[in-house]
Amino acid sequence: MKRIIIEGNRTLSGKIKIGGAKNSVVALIPAAIMANGKVKISNVPNISDKDALIEILKLLNVDVKKGTGVIEIDASNIKNTLIPESLSNKLRASYYFMGALLARFKKVEMYFPGGCNIGSRPINLHLKGFESLGATITKEDSKYLIEATELKGADIMLDFASVGATVNLMIAATMAKGTTHIMNAAREAEIINIAELLNNMGAKVTGAGTEEITIEGVEELHSAEIKVIPDRIEAGTYIIMGALLGDNLTIEGMIPEHNILLLNKLQEMGVNFKLQNHKIILNKSSNLKPTNVRTAVYPGFPTDLGQPMAVLLTQANGVSLFEETIWENRMGHVKYLNKMGANIKAERQHAEITGPTPLHGAEITATDLRAGAALVTAGLIADGTTIINDAEHILRGYERIINKLSSVGANIKIVEV
Ligand code: EPU
Repeated sequence: MKRIIIEGNRTLSGKIKIGGAKNSVVALIPAAIMANGKVKISNVPNISDKDALIEILKLLNVDVKKGTGVIEIDASNIKNTLIPESLSNKLRASYYFMGALLARFKKVEMYFPGGCNIGSRPINLHLKGFESLGATITKEDSKYLIEATELKGADIMLDFASVGATVNLMIAATMAKGTTHIMNAAREAEIINIAELLNNMGAKVTGAGTEEITIEGVEELHSAEIKVIPDRIEAGTYIIMGALLGDNLTIEGMIPEHNILLLNKLQEMGVNFKLQNHKIILNKSSNLKPTNVRTAVYPGFPTDLGQPMAVLLTQANGVSLFEETIWENRMGHVKYLNKMGANIKAERQHAEITGPTPLHGAEITATDLRAGAALVTAGLIADGTTIINDAEHILRGYERIINKLSSVGANIKIVEV
């Protein structure tokens, strides 16, 4: 087990550079196997979810060359083998191999994906979409066999604007015969980035970033390059830390428009920040006003920032109401924040946070990636020592978090126990 240890209450000043987006790169890597030729991905974040996908590429006999922040994928000799459950359950995004292998081989055999335990996380919308494209699905326990004699373009209306289903179906439809329309599509910035790679590979995708995506099938895909967009959730997490502890803390290499709702909320709370092109400078703000936060699909307040945001709300002057609308089980941080001195009453997907409450160090556990980010934030503002167990979750999505925070003055380390 990895354990993060923080001596809290240190000012943060200096610069933090944001890396490439986790939720983009985890789809770009599987999508790359559809090309007849090399795909070069740059601005790749150094996170463990990326390493897990590379393990799957190797199992599929895909050639992978790694440089600093760059990977080159060549699937010329790919073999369509069953991805063992021990690999597919390391992360959610392993399911993008369903769409990519189905597009390339018209057949894929794979187990149910893994990922953070934040809700039931079914994949019915993905499967229903594959069926609309002409595939048949046979399920045996948690193993799926998805195959088609031919994939045909179709009109697919998603019941919910699911990020994963939108991406998987966009990938699967690239080489289907005819035109596919995905309606009620998710609109996340990462989806535009993924469509950009598909188009660079020769696909014909339009409308990514809107509610309707159109894909005209092409016969084959070729070599291409893509740069991963900055991670808006990593940026948002450090922005929240800057609001709590910043002394001219600069978050750079981000796209402020991707964090507009977070920035609006911070403004409403009275956080002291300055926006400049691709960076934001933050100072610790006193007398923060409480606010209400309701997570929603993009461009709403991102669910992935809900847990770090809860820590900021513990320091506001009064009662804030929080509602999580995407995941049924994303309150894993609450028990531990309360152990540290917070006053949060949570029931199912709602929480009432009363502040300000000074936090003190404690031994706590990261139950999932963003709960872990919230606990790091809490540990940074707490008096005394905070010990975060199961810190592996955090490394799935925050590259070099210990180095980045140490370089701006935090007293933080990670140990193996
Ligand atoms: N849903 C279904 N059926 C489906 C697919 C989704 O009912 O077939 C439901 C889910 O259960 C959930 C909602 O729809 O209640 C949203 O799910 P979505 O498919 O949009 O989420 P995802 O693709 O599994 C991605 C991110 C998550 C992020 C969500 C929402 C990746 C790898 N993961 O998950 O990121 O919370 O979109 O923005 O892209 C994280 O980074 O910490 C994280 C969990």
